[in-house]
Amino acid sequence: MKGQAIMAFAAIILTSPAIAQTGDMSHGQRLVRACVACHSLEPDRNMTGPSLANLWGRKAGSLPSFERYSDALKSSGIIWDDRSLDGWLTDPDRMVPDNDMPFNGIKDARARADLLAFLKEATKPGAPQQTAQAPMGGTGGMMGGMMGGGGEVPNLKNLSPNMQVKAITYCHDTFRVATHDGKMRAFWERNLRFKTDSSKDGPQSGAPALVPAGMMGDRADVIFAAPEEISKMIEARC
Ligand code: HEC
Repeated sequence: MKGQAIMAFAAIILTSPAIAQTGDMSHGQRLVRACVACHSLEPDRNMTGPSLANLWGRKAGSLPSFERYSDALKSSGIIWDDRSLDGWLTDPDRMVPDNDMPFNGIKDARARADLLAFLKEATKPGAPQQTAQAPMGGTGGMMGGMMGGGGEVPNLKNLSPNMQVKAITYCHDTFRVATHDGKMRAFWERNLRFKTDSSKDGPQSGAPALVPAGMMGDRADVIFAAPEEISKMIEARC
């Protein structure tokens, strides 16, 4: 669902001729929002997709810190440059059949050129981190106040008390999550997801984070530092 929403959004902004006419780097900077939902421009900061830092001159599928490349991309033999990236962004599936990037491509040549002009500067070694993260990405809604603005992946090391999970109980079909601000929130069991983040942005060990997901405030993620913490935290009690 989320992937589809991102693709739909990308299709709208990337094919709009009204936007395309304004052109160049600033246009490219806006277009790149369709990418930063999945890609950071910070070296070795991998999300759904690999970091795009130092992309030009890199062999496709070769970033050692990214663990989830498709075999198709790894064995493609592509070196990323102006031409190969233009082909990739036109139609990823045509250039590398069976790749794993959930992105339809950008059909407008001018939009691709603007995006690549921006990306080339922004991914150079030592380039300042100037891109805003994507505006979409599951923040906002009734619980949106729990996170800073934007769609940024928040750093979970220093949590505000309303995001810091104290206890989780499970009764019938309901999880109740107590947070350090003294509040208790109830979730239907299929609306709460348990995840881990072992990166430097992940939570402290033993201090999982409650992060809103979706627009309505009825869904959330609890993000732990490691998988073995998950069932230890959940107490079956009515
Ligand atoms: C929904 C997530 C998603 C979106 C949106 C997305 N990508 Fe990707 N991208 C991926 C994934 C996943 C891969 C790895 C694909 C594989 O291994 O087959 C990837 C791979 C790549 C690669 C190859 C990198 C390498 O190390 O070889 C480039 C370049 C790239 N994407 C650029 C972009 C650009 C530019 C945009 C925006 C126009 C974009 N992507 C949008 C998920 C995404």
